Amino acid sequence: MSASVQTSVITPPQVLAAKGRTPLVCLTAYTTPTAKLVDRHCEMVLVGDSVGMVLHGLPDTLGVSLDMMSMHGKAVRRGLEHALMVVDMPFGSYEESPQQAFRNAARLITETGCEAVKLEGGEAMAETIRFLTRRGIPVMAHVGLTPQAVNAFGGYGVQGRGADSERIRGDAIAVTEAGAFSVVLEKIPDPLARRITADIAIPTIGIGASAACDGQILVTDDLLGQFGDFLPKFVRRYADLGAQAEAAIAAYAKDVRARQFPGPEHVFGDTPAGKPKREIG
Ligand code: KIV
Repeated sequence: MSASVQTSVITPPQVLAAKGRTPLVCLTAYTTPTAKLVDRHCEMVLVGDSVGMVLHGLPDTLGVSLDMMSMHGKAVRRGLEHALMVVDMPFGSYEESPQQAFRNAARLITETGCEAVKLEGGEAMAETIRFLTRRGIPVMAHVGLTPQAVNAFGGYGVQGRGADSERIRGDAIAVTEAGAFSVVLEKIPDPLARRITADIAIPTIGIGASAACDGQILVTDDLLGQFGDFLPKFVRRYADLGAQAEAAIAAYAKDVRARQFPGPEHVFGDTPAGKPKREIG
């Protein structure tokens, strides 16, 4: 699990066994090309419901549907050979009952071929996580800032400060006891993330949490500089592909308007080997 380039297929028990070892590398993917890029560098790839905001221009993740997660999951599956694939359960697809959660998780697994699902919520979702894991569905939990609860939180602020820390710690313990094989800790204070990581037996995957977590996850488009609407404090940009892409598009537009594109090498002659005849005069 510590290889810098991944060559074997990762399983949920292997992720569990990685607790306290070399940090697990996790990224999101929503498409086949991105899945191919991240596959050999990650232990886990998440088809996150952030796809709604990043690719579909939605204001939050609440409008993401099971159909969307299934379609993006199928695309990602075609690009992965090594990393463990986790698909997010979207808002409204699991909260009603453990039975609803099982039905929809089973749909995501059968339609996309993912190995695990992720769902948001701590103590309130423990019964559901237990129901799924006892029936053979590996679950990654997600506590702290859970974006599907943006309306209840009143925004995307840091969770678990001061007296609220015990709530988040209780959530992490509850999902561990319910059988989750890992848990995302999002946007909580560093000392709390360290404490939770030390206290629970499953790997913690941090995003805006702490370098002490057992792994880290980021939205790939954020680290590549492809999503420009906002930049969370917890993102480090490793590239500025959005700006590069716009410069390339502007150069293309300029060439077209100046009849500099297409060039002679991009057009076809009358015969396969022939060169296009130059017009004389
Ligand atoms: O939807 C998502 O991409 C996520 C990660 C940021 C953890 O939940």
